[in-house]
Amino acid sequence: MNTQIAADAVAHPVAGQPVVRVATAHDDAFVEELQAIAFGPGRFARTAFRVRERFPIDTSLSLIAEVDGTPCGSVWMTPISVGGRKGYLLGPLATHPNFRKRGAGKLLAREVSARALARGEGDFVLLVGDQDYYCPLGWETTTPGNIQFPGPVDPNRVLLLSDDKDLAKTLSGAIAAFDAR
Ligand SMILES: CC(C)(COP(=O)(O)OP(=O)(O)OC[C@H]1O[C@@H](n2cnc3c(N)ncnc32)[C@H](O)[C@@H]1OP(=O)(O)O)[C@@H](O)C(=O)NCCC(=O)NCCS
Repeated sequence: MNTQIAADAVAHPVAGQPVVRVATAHDDAFVEELQAIAFGPGRFARTAFRVRERFPIDTSLSLIAEVDGTPCGSVWMTPISVGGRKGYLLGPLATHPNFRKRGAGKLLAREVSARALARGEGDFVLLVGDQDYYCPLGWETTTPGNIQFPGPVDPNRVLLLSDDKDLAKTLSGAIAAFDAR
């Protein structure tokens, strides 16, 4: 690849196309409002929210998507472990309604997972979400009931991404702290 072209592509994002960056404290109000718009008041009762109440998110993996400098999407990651294997719970993922269908959501999901797994500390990215959205990105269905959440989840929506192609079917246990033994 021509490295100059690659460098220019990073320095000058294409107008109207989403790019991602790490969130800062200045994004807090945007993210809070976005999550309220995307998930409504019921978001606090979601099982994935209960996981995030117990275990802190990794703010270095909180990403913002923006289009032409305007924040338009957000994703969080929570380091967790399941059955002694370390990994991450992805979510919430949301794109502002004014900026949907431009690729921001998939870019955020891909990018945050690539950054997390590249650290070499965790083996998987777990989430509760729609198969139609996430499976084309590499997430796979898990064995129903194997992964225990602190509340009810639809087993068809418990999806896992890993370089270990057996893990989606074999990972088993309750969600625990990242450094649980
Ligand atoms: C889901 C969401 C993050 C997608 O954001 P986005 O930036 O529009 O996503 P992308 O542009 O990368 O992808 C858009 C495509 O995914 C499709 N899509 C969106 N949500 C989908 C879903 N739940 N299931 C299947 N496909 C879906 C869109 O129809 C669109 O298809 P197209 O490319 O054929 O037009 C956004 O709609 C959102 O914030 N929704 C509310 C919160 C939510 O449901 N979050 C996900 C929790 S699992």
